[in-house]
Amino acid sequence: MPSRRGLLAGLAASTLSRPLAAAGQKVLQAESFSLDVDGKAARRYRVVQPDGTWGLTLDQGDRFDVRLENRLEVPTLVHWHGLNPPWRQDGVPFISAPPLPPGRAASYDFPAQPPGTRWMHSHFGLQEQNLLAAPLVIRETSALQSGLPEIVVLFEDFAWRSPEQIFEELRTARPARGAMSGSRPDLNDVDYSHFLANHRTLADPAVFDVEKGAEVRLRLINGATSSNFWIHLGQLDATLITVDGNPVHPTKVGTLPLAVAQRADLLVRVPRDSEAVAVLARCEGRAAQAGFFLRPPRAAVTRLPEQAEAAAPALTLADELRLRATPPLAERPVDRSIPVALTGQMMGYVWGMSVHGQGGEPATVGKGERIELVLRNTTPMSHPMHLHGHSFQVVEIDGQRLAGALRDTILVTPHSTVKVVLDADNPGLWAFHCHNLYHLAAGMFATLVYDGFS
Ligand code: C2O
Ligand code: CU
Repeated sequence: MPSRRGLLAGLAASTLSRPLAAAGQKVLQAESFSLDVDGKAARRYRVVQPDGTWGLTLDQGDRFDVRLENRLEVPTLVHWHGLNPPWRQDGVPFISAPPLPPGRAASYDFPAQPPGTRWMHSHFGLQEQNLLAAPLVIRETSALQSGLPEIVVLFEDFAWRSPEQIFEELRTARPARGAMSGSRPDLNDVDYSHFLANHRTLADPAVFDVEKGAEVRLRLINGATSSNFWIHLGQLDATLITVDGNPVHPTKVGTLPLAVAQRADLLVRVPRDSEAVAVLARCEGRAAQAGFFLRPPRAAVTRLPEQAEAAAPALTLADELRLRATPPLAERPVDRSIPVALTGQMMGYVWGMSVHGQGGEPATVGKGERIELVLRNTTPMSHPMHLHGHSFQVVEIDGQRLAGALRDTILVTPHSTVKVVLDADNPGLWAFHCHNLYHLAAGMFATLVYDGFS
C-alpha cells in the first residue's frame, strides 16, 4: 500500500472557506437534499453544481478540472466511473486518496478521457444507496457536431430503510431459497420500494419535450446499487451506438440489458403521431419498473403503473455476444492471463474474489503489457464486474470468441466465464470489484497493481 504521507501529498484537501474555484474550474457539491417519493419526503444525497445542475457535462478534449466540495455531515469521496484518470484522482477512499472530511474540498485536474457517457458516485461506505450518484458526460466531438438533442437519464433503486439496515438484513438473513446450493439463478438480494429515473418514479415521471419525428440521443446510465435492468424502447425506432460510453457497431434494439453501473447510448426516432412514448427500465426478477417519457408538442402522456403485469426475466449475455467494438483493441498476443474467481455464499452473506486462486491477492500487471482477465463466476448470482482506470474489451463468453464491446463493467452471469483484455497503460493501484454495492461491501473486491509500483 502507498504511504499515507504520499496520499496526502497527492490530493491535499482544502477547506470550503478558501476562495472559491480557480478560473475555469467546475465546482461539484456533495450535499443532502429532500426528495419526494410517492408523496413522502426522503432525505438523501446528491452531487450538483452551484447552480443546481445535477452532475457534469464536458466536451471531448476538455480537462476534468473540478473542485469537489463536501457539504455533507459525513466524510465522502466521489469516483469518476468510466474515466481513466491518474490513479490518485480516481476517488476511491483508502486507495487513491483519503476520504474527504465534511467541510473540505479536493481538486482534480486531468484530461477528461475517454469521451462518452460516464457517471460519478460516492465510493465511500454505502453512500451510493443514499443516491450519491450523478451523470458525468464527456460529449464526443461527433455528438457535438451532430447537433442532436440529448437526453441523459440515470436509473436508481430506492429503499425507505437505510443502507446499513439493508446490509444488516442481508448478513443475518437465513435464505429460504437455499440459493448457494441450487443451480437456479438467484436474482435480487434486496427488496426495493421504488425504482427511479432521474430521481422520479413513474407516478411522477420525467417528461422530455421533443419534436415529432425528431432524432434524439439517449444516454442511459444504470446508477442503481444492486438492480439490473431491461431497457424497453417501446415504439421508438432505436439504434444502440455505445456501451459504457464506447462505440459499438450500430445495432437496432427494442429491449436492451443494462447491468449495474453500465451505460448505453441510443439514437431514437420519435414517432410522427401525437402520443408521448415511454422508455422503461424494468428490474430483472421484479415487476417494478421506472421510466420517462418523450413528448412531442401537444401529445398526451398516458401514465404507466410502477408495477408491470409480470416480473422481468434475468439478464443474460446473449446481447453481449452480438456487440462489436468500433474500433476494437489492436490485435496482439496476451502477455499475462490472470484467473479471477468470483466466489460467494448467501449464508452469512460472504462474497469474494480470488486472483490466481488466492483471496486477498492483487492482480499484478506490467506496464505496457496486454492483460487478459479470466472472470469465472462460481456462484448462482450474476456480478457486474468493474475495473477502475482502464477500458477492457470483452473477447470470450463461455468459450465463444468475439471482438466484443469495450467496457468498464461486464456482467458475469451465474456459473459463466468471461474473458476480457486490456492494455496496461495507466500505472497505479486500482480498485477491481463487483459493482453490486452489497457484494462489494461483503468482500467482492480486489485490486490491480502495476509491477514495481509502490
Ligand atoms: Cu463505479 Cu469502484 O466504481
Ligand atoms: Cu456481485
